[in-house]
Amino acid sequence: MVLIDRLINEFDRGLQAILGITRATRPVPTFDTNPADMLLSLQEKRHVIGLMRVNHVGEVCAQALYQAQKLATKDILLRDAFAHAQLEEEDHLAWTAERLSTLGSHPSLLNPLWYTGAFIIGFCVGKIGDKTSLSFMAETEWQVENHLNNHLESLPLHDYESRAIVNQMRLDEAAHAQAALDSGGVELSWPIRKAMSVCAKMMTTIAYYI
Ligand SMILES: [Fe+2]
Ligand SMILES: [Fe+2]
Repeated sequence: MVLIDRLINEFDRGLQAILGITRATRPVPTFDTNPADMLLSLQEKRHVIGLMRVNHVGEVCAQALYQAQKLATKDILLRDAFAHAQLEEEDHLAWTAERLSTLGSHPSLLNPLWYTGAFIIGFCVGKIGDKTSLSFMAETEWQVENHLNNHLESLPLHDYESRAIVNQMRLDEAAHAQAALDSGGVELSWPIRKAMSVCAKMMTTIAYYI
């Protein structure tokens, strides 16, 4: 595909990510439970909405990062690897959007901002080199996995619907991190990891509410 076609294609996918109209290729994960057991109090519902909005923002950023990293690399195999991970991230995006809608809420109003910021970071990192790009991917996925583990501890125990989604996402993110390592990524230095985690903390704190 020539560059201009790729740019148009990625622009279209980015727009879909921001607008929350992506479609999943896998069905929404579920646990086999009685719906009556899953009723949430108002307070619990508010908390779940906040957490699922944060997860949705994370997936918007994942789209932006993978798109930018795909555009930045000249390695066709690496581009395919990023595309594969991006497809699974699209599932996450659709699942979290659907859960938010079921709960009667909406994705973050700041999604265009999150998307743009992540795209710029992903492209700059990608242009430094493929090894840096893969290392950044591995660290990002580890941090997301860690953050999803925290969500599993924070979600109400009887919110099986959210838990099933977050659990599958967690497994996918761990596989993405491993794929990045297998392709040549290495652990980043402590200051970079710390800076990434401070940025992520700022983003998740705001996205919980807006
Ligand atoms: Fe994801
Ligand atoms: Fe991922």
